[in-house]
Amino acid sequence: MSKLANIDWNNLGFSYIKTDFRYISTWKNGSWDDGKLVTDNKLTISEGSTALHYGQQCFEGMKAYRTKTGDIQLFRPYENAKRMNLSAHYLMMPEIPEEKFVDAVKQVVRANEAYVPPYDSGATLYIRPLLIGIGDNICPCPAPEYLFCVFCMPVGPYFKDGMAPVNFTVSDFDRAAPYGTGGLKVGGNYAASLYPYHLAKKSGFGDCIYLDPTTHTKIEEVGTANFFGITKNDEFVTPKSPSILPSITKYSLLYLAKEVLHLKTAERDVLIDNLDEFKEAGACGTAAIITPIGGIQYKGKLHVFHSETEVGPITTKLYNTLCGIQFGDIEAPDGWIVKV
Ligand code: PLP
Ligand code: COI
Repeated sequence: MSKLANIDWNNLGFSYIKTDFRYISTWKNGSWDDGKLVTDNKLTISEGSTALHYGQQCFEGMKAYRTKTGDIQLFRPYENAKRMNLSAHYLMMPEIPEEKFVDAVKQVVRANEAYVPPYDSGATLYIRPLLIGIGDNICPCPAPEYLFCVFCMPVGPYFKDGMAPVNFTVSDFDRAAPYGTGGLKVGGNYAASLYPYHLAKKSGFGDCIYLDPTTHTKIEEVGTANFFGITKNDEFVTPKSPSILPSITKYSLLYLAKEVLHLKTAERDVLIDNLDEFKEAGACGTAAIITPIGGIQYKGKLHVFHSETEVGPITTKLYNTLCGIQFGDIEAPDGWIVKV
């Protein structure tokens, strides 16, 4: 293991830290260049870049994990590559060959090895691939050139107490249109969630839950994570909707709930008026990992699931199984782990 950076690994939050190297590759005249690692964390782009005016950009979020033996591994990186290409396709941006995407991620992790937190610190290396439309332009049309970059930083839990219950409030606002870009990882969805997030935080909640934009009766997701609930008869349930992000963590949990915990599972409507059906609930995502939901505030009333202070037993088992796989302590289903 190479020498580690001088960082207080056990007390990291989820915030920007400049690491030593990032990868950039440019698309021009119909093809990607080879890409390279650079040290400068500033991007110089045309003032006419479509990413700046028309939101022609998308991104991914993924992590590298240090195992007990000191190895470094990625969790399902080809799923991130595929999802980035779905976002790119809809926003009229060039796709990135999956091997180029994963190779770029590996290069960045290797070059920044000193920033991969030690096993057992509870921290990980968060990786942010970003694809933006650049070049001289002013019309709302696809950009003439594109920049793909990948950078990374060590992070702790996104919700500051980690594996501890957080309360959410239901937003009156929508983050995405019924058949719009909600299912893609594009910046506009996050811009739309900044104000509702601000309101939720101001009222003392961890984040807000969005309801379906058509009827406002069904849970969609949290602004930064998908929702799941465990019913009173031990079923793992998660909302099905075209306007939520298809979370790689959520699909992994659906698989693990069924195959490892032997629970029934379902992707279906989750009615906000029927929260009583759940004995446990959680938010899941790369940054959020699994964050237990203590309660959900709706129409002036806080509906508490398992407890506002303690984590439910099934949420705990799911967390231990997922993290066990990510950190290499539990054997992963085929193809889930890619060594760096
Ligand atoms: N939903 C939203 C809106 C997100 O930003 C994220 C984070 O990536 C997720 C869900 C979880 O997705 P994943 O598990 O692929 O990180
Ligand atoms: C992630 O979990 O990777 C995200 O992108 C969520 C948030 C930090 C924006």
